[in-house]
Amino acid sequence: AAPHIPVICVDGPTASGKGTLASQVAHALGYHYLDSGALYRIAAFAAIRAGLSLDAAHEHTIAKMAETLPVRFSGGHVFLAELDVTDAIRTEEAGMNASKVSALPSVRTALVALQHGFRRLPGLVADGRDMGTVIFPDAPLKVYLTASAAHRAERRHKQLISKGISTTIDSLRQDLEARDARDMNRATAPLKPAGDALLLDNSHQSVEESVAQVLRWWESRKQQT
Ligand code: DC
Repeated sequence: AAPHIPVICVDGPTASGKGTLASQVAHALGYHYLDSGALYRIAAFAAIRAGLSLDAAHEHTIAKMAETLPVRFSGGHVFLAELDVTDAIRTEEAGMNASKVSALPSVRTALVALQHGFRRLPGLVADGRDMGTVIFPDAPLKVYLTASAAHRAERRHKQLISKGISTTIDSLRQDLEARDARDMNRATAPLKPAGDALLLDNSHQSVEESVAQVLRWWESRKQQT
């Protein structure tokens, strides 16, 4: 751990807007940004490419791959070795696959060092499911972001429609509730608020309002220390 380097954790369920919130807070503070979900998405992508099913039968092999995952974030794009996987890992299916590999304990362990490596000066904003509970338990600010399933499905629907992908709100809602259930009920590092997390429900908040809230919390944390 690097306790002198500040970390802000943003955890929460699928499509709660964690990524948008965390990356905008990072930008406002000039901090680094870790999208930990992307690591699970890439691990699943790499495993499928290697012809592996995403279950306990291949846990050891997938964990070995994850340990040396040749992932690179550059200019808003994500690369697996030389392959640009930015769009490929963003589909609903890729999210569900990520949720499957993330339930395998040795895959989670294999990704710990990679995640700790993002903690660099002047600071880090990290989003995911277990940033505050497992990966950065000493973080001075932990936010648990939620929104109702209806709001999350509706937002996701708008995003996909704007990309020209047609789906229904009902099927999106079913998918995200299935993913929430898997992420919250797994044995290792399940999604739940850290004991010292501040809860933020953005169902009726704009992105700007949530960003401003987190920045205010960060200001008051810094004054306490
Ligand atoms: O945040 P996301 O939708 O990109 O995450 C995809 C999946 O990866 C999510 O359903 C569960 C898993 N995940 C995890 O287990 N731990 C994290 N810190 C981030 C994501």
